[in-house]
Amino acid sequence: MDSLKNLLQQKNCKDVVVLTGAGISAESGIKTFRDSNGLWEDHAIEDIASPEGFYKDPEMVHRFYNLRRAQLQDVYPNPAHTALSDLEKIVDNFTLITQNVDDLHERGGSQNVLHMHGELKKIFCLKTGKVDYFEGDVMSEEFSFVRPDIVWFGEAIKYSTEIQKAFENCDLYLCIGTSNNVYPAAGFVQAAKMKNALCIELNLEATALSHQYDLNFYGPATEIVTQFVDLFR
Ligand code: OAD
Repeated sequence: MDSLKNLLQQKNCKDVVVLTGAGISAESGIKTFRDSNGLWEDHAIEDIASPEGFYKDPEMVHRFYNLRRAQLQDVYPNPAHTALSDLEKIVDNFTLITQNVDDLHERGGSQNVLHMHGELKKIFCLKTGKVDYFEGDVMSEEFSFVRPDIVWFGEAIKYSTEIQKAFENCDLYLCIGTSNNVYPAAGFVQAAKMKNALCIELNLEATALSHQYDLNFYGPATEIVTQFVDLFR
């Protein structure tokens, strides 16, 4: 990490874009998609997290998201989340893009968070087209006319304009705790490279796209993300 500190000082990185995935919340007790083998109660995750799955069985889909929303009450931000909120205060420009639908970044103090795959605590009304903040359970009488404001398989990501803008002057890109399996997020490293940004992957282990990064650090997020942010202090 010492040589990295020198490199960061040389490059004087000030415009930072961070992408996080399920790995950053794993040590808070939220299972990653890979941990659950892509299954929930024997249902393939694609059957739950897809418009087709919802129209076929809205009750099952709402039960799944009700449980995940309820779980938020029992989990807390970990030191990796809070380290990123510190980094946001240290550098000049900072955008945190997350694929996570939990609220641990916000509860860890982050301000500028783009939930590209939506949020558990938001609900979309199919009658009015309105998105509302939501806590608690969706009840059976509402099953067919509200849906979680979550981006499902086959749907467009949220905040694509803001994300594109974030990369315009990016000089440091950090990819944290994601398997890099799902596009377009997996392709952000290419957007960063086009800007000559330093690209760093922080993950428990190597991913299919590790070779695309300038540097890779492997270990639990609570250790490697905190160590990394300490280099800026
Ligand atoms: P995955 O479950 O695919 O990958 C989790 C990644 O986190 C893996 O690369 C693990 O090695 C890493 N990991 C696990 N524990 C970690 C720890 N303690 N510290 C650091 N890294 C750790 O989750 P995502 O990449 O987030 O999309 O999945 C991306 C998207 O695929 C999700 O947002 C979801 C899913 O289909 C939608 O729901 C649209």
